[in-house]
Amino acid sequence: MRDGEIKRRIEELRKQINYHNYRYYVLDDPIISDSEFDSMLEELKRLEQENPQFFDENSPTLRVGGVALNKFEKVEHDIPMLSLDDGFSDSDIEEFDKKVKRFLKLPADKDIEYFVEPKFDGLSVCLIYKNGTLHLASTRGDGHVGENVTQNVRTIRNIPLDIISDNPPSYLDVQGEILLSKDEFERINKERLNKGEPVFANPRNAAAGSLRQLDPKETAKRKLAMFAYYLRKIEGISEKINSQHEAVYSLKSFGFATSTLNKLCKNIEEAIDHKKHLEKIRDELPYELDGVVIKVDSFDLQDRLGFTTKSPRWAVAFKFPAQQATTKILDIEVNVGRTGILTPVAILEPVNIGGVVVSRASLHTVDEIEKKDIMIGDNVFVQRAGDVIPEVVKPIKDLRDGTQKRFEMPKKCPVCGSHVAKDGAYYRCTNINCPKVLKESVKHFVSRKAMNIDGFGSKIIEQLVDKGIVKDVSDIYKLNKSTLLQLDRVGEKLAENLEAAIHRSKGITFAKFIYALGIRHVGEYVAKLLAERFNNLNSLQNATKEKLLSIDGVGEEIADSIVSFFNEKRNLETIDRILGFGVYFIDSKSPAKESKIKDKSFLFTGILSKPREFFKEIIESKGGLVRNSISKKLDYLVVGDNPGSKLKKAQEFNIKIITEQELVELLEG
Ligand code: IVH
Repeated sequence: MRDGEIKRRIEELRKQINYHNYRYYVLDDPIISDSEFDSMLEELKRLEQENPQFFDENSPTLRVGGVALNKFEKVEHDIPMLSLDDGFSDSDIEEFDKKVKRFLKLPADKDIEYFVEPKFDGLSVCLIYKNGTLHLASTRGDGHVGENVTQNVRTIRNIPLDIISDNPPSYLDVQGEILLSKDEFERINKERLNKGEPVFANPRNAAAGSLRQLDPKETAKRKLAMFAYYLRKIEGISEKINSQHEAVYSLKSFGFATSTLNKLCKNIEEAIDHKKHLEKIRDELPYELDGVVIKVDSFDLQDRLGFTTKSPRWAVAFKFPAQQATTKILDIEVNVGRTGILTPVAILEPVNIGGVVVSRASLHTVDEIEKKDIMIGDNVFVQRAGDVIPEVVKPIKDLRDGTQKRFEMPKKCPVCGSHVAKDGAYYRCTNINCPKVLKESVKHFVSRKAMNIDGFGSKIIEQLVDKGIVKDVSDIYKLNKSTLLQLDRVGEKLAENLEAAIHRSKGITFAKFIYALGIRHVGEYVAKLLAERFNNLNSLQNATKEKLLSIDGVGEEIADSIVSFFNEKRNLETIDRILGFGVYFIDSKSPAKESKIKDKSFLFTGILSKPREFFKEIIESKGGLVRNSISKKLDYLVVGDNPGSKLKKAQEFNIKIITEQELVELLEG
């Protein structure tokens, strides 16, 4: 064969294989036998191997996975991937309908058409096709920046590599949900159990874990699927798409799998009926459903309704109520938390509640156990609502056979053996050096919303405490590469990353620092209030209870807890040590600093070392402004890795372009 002929044959085979793949995986209606399909695939593989000049990363032969990556590249979404508002009851749905009509100034008795879709519990991705060919697939991430998972997405059989159309759109951006069927979830978990690996708690985690494999060959082994539900952008087609149901129809005709459970409803009553129907059949479905999404069908109306900063006004997600199951309490264990509180936890005979295997449930307090009259050995109802920790609802007392035992709180801490004291409704380990308390305090200290030191997993923290390397949270700042290398499972690269993360965390907002201290009852919100009220650590440390109580949002319990925290010499010493290691507040307020960026506007592009929200908070606290889009009036464009199109625009407009480092200097200066 001559080159031209080979090329034609390769192209023909690719097209046919894609088509038969679509018949099989999307339509579930194959028209050729498996062996005919395999022989076409074999021929294509052979031709591609012999003629590498015709390599194409979108070839169906790569459905089995291409080259492994070191890490996923970050991608900035051109259009942010927003989330949906939540509702729970039928009256919430009616309220949504009323709100839509009020906003549109339509009479209350006018019918609006709604498109009702199942809400699949998976992982959302957006796929960009250029001239009909898959160009980029990215995860949602924080809605603005996600990860490039194109290679892995190519292995998902029901996602078209090329759009089925003689006249494909020049640009298409489509969002869908990546899922595992309930059966595939069980298969993967069984396999993991056999290998002694931890099982996935639910199909969503399993789908996320499967998609985020650095080696696409691993992703290819899991039978992931995607349902497309949102046409985010389309260019270069002649016909106009006027509604959600037309959009879904177009997606289907392009070769995407769309749900057969979608329904166009005349009005909100019909939408509620369809939701009830889906709720009734959810257990029989091959995929996990966690609710429905109700969308205003007409694009005209959608445009008029628009978006809030977080979500569209034209859609709402309704979660199905919690699912229940019965099982047995095998034992009640006691868990020691960060504040030394002992929490009873029910160890359950593992039970599948709507696709999730539940084997533990918090019982909260001894009072709660007594109130619900729960005994060890009881058969119980357990329920799970969305992401919430499973809960023991009540015992089935009729099934008691005399072997049940009452739970008693141990007198000694199960971790360190120290005396346990009653403290209101709680029981607490009296040892301030209890290793579990320290481990939990360190976990809190390094967590994202606190000092945000990336990479410290539980296993590392446990070793640091057990080996006596970390005796107090401030010891985190003593760590260096060589100490970290002494730990199991910490290699050169990780040790370097941890050291860098520790170093990076030293510049922190005052609010996050207060939160990181782990003062009882001082969560993220109260920490912010305190940071706003007190200019520096000194005035916070010396604040009287009265002064604290004068802050709106701070009550007796919080004020007492803050005062007693700063009365403790040990805590003051820890703080001194942390500051001694060079931790500083990037937003400490002095008038001179404030003026430098006052009324100046900033815009971000690309990936920064910390979330944009982090810098936004500081800029705004100093009187600056953060913009969402570029304009000639913009003062600074802050550029991170992989900058987007904003950079070019800024150059055209002659806007000052600065790096993250320069921004930090500006904020400190
Ligand atoms: S529409 C502008 N439709 O639910 C937002 N989302 O809570 C467009 N989801 O992030 C989303 N099924 O991951 C939409 N039929 C459906 C959905 C759906 C599941 C997920 C999606 C989204 C989240 C919002």
